[in-house]
Amino acid sequence: MQYRTGKELRELFLGFFESKGCRRLHSFSLTPDDPTLLFTIAGMVPFKPYFLGIKTPEFTRATTSQKCVRTNDIENVGHTARHHTFFEMLGNFSFGDYFKKEVIPWAYEFLTEYIGLEPERLYVTVHVTDDEAYEIWNKTVGIPADHIYRFDEDNFWASGPVGPCGPCSEILYDQGEEYSCGKPTCAPGCDCDRYLEIWNLVFMQFNRAEDGTLTPLPKKNIDTGMGLERLASVVQNVKTDFETDLFRPIIDETCKLVNVKYG
Ligand code: ALA
Repeated sequence: MQYRTGKELRELFLGFFESKGCRRLHSFSLTPDDPTLLFTIAGMVPFKPYFLGIKTPEFTRATTSQKCVRTNDIENVGHTARHHTFFEMLGNFSFGDYFKKEVIPWAYEFLTEYIGLEPERLYVTVHVTDDEAYEIWNKTVGIPADHIYRFDEDNFWASGPVGPCGPCSEILYDQGEEYSCGKPTCAPGCDCDRYLEIWNLVFMQFNRAEDGTLTPLPKKNIDTGMGLERLASVVQNVKTDFETDLFRPIIDETCKLVNVKYG
């Protein structure tokens, strides 16, 4: 796999999805105009009115690298190599346009052909009920059955208790045994850093009401999110996201200022 800077990875991703017809948009404000959210927690936040059918966009495909603050992850920051207070989410979105049979092979194409990840290290998860996504991963893409896991709550994504949501499919990268927690149960789905979730593909097709009822959205949509810093940690072969070129220069400069050695 070729070394790439964070900047190169961001550009590669946005360019790839432009080539699939997505409109490249800027990163939106970190404080959204949304009464249900304090911060922009994902790339899809600015597009919620499009998913809900409240507004009609002039385009049906988009791609962004969205700056995010994920308050719901804050308890994990400092305990794992992969959680942040602030990060960038690489995303591609379909508003009633492409769906599972396009987005799954594209994600695989990007990771294996553009980034150069070894296919043998990739694992995917799908929702327990989602035979369609399972078949696309297995038959169209060729992921072997023993690299596909099915989960329930962990494969259903929502931006909050109310709003657009749907089953999802995660792509995990096996970083190797040295990253494992060592428990005999360590496998895809384990909380440790071995099977690193790099990308989540959400099949946005429901609106959840306050009482928990799910109503189908007017159209089926796609919302994906890949952690730029996580991808960089894999491509740059460093142990934590903080050692990628996106963070390390800041840490090194801070060390200089306070005259301490990192690590
Ligand atoms: N919106 C999805 C997530 O944040 C992609 O994981």
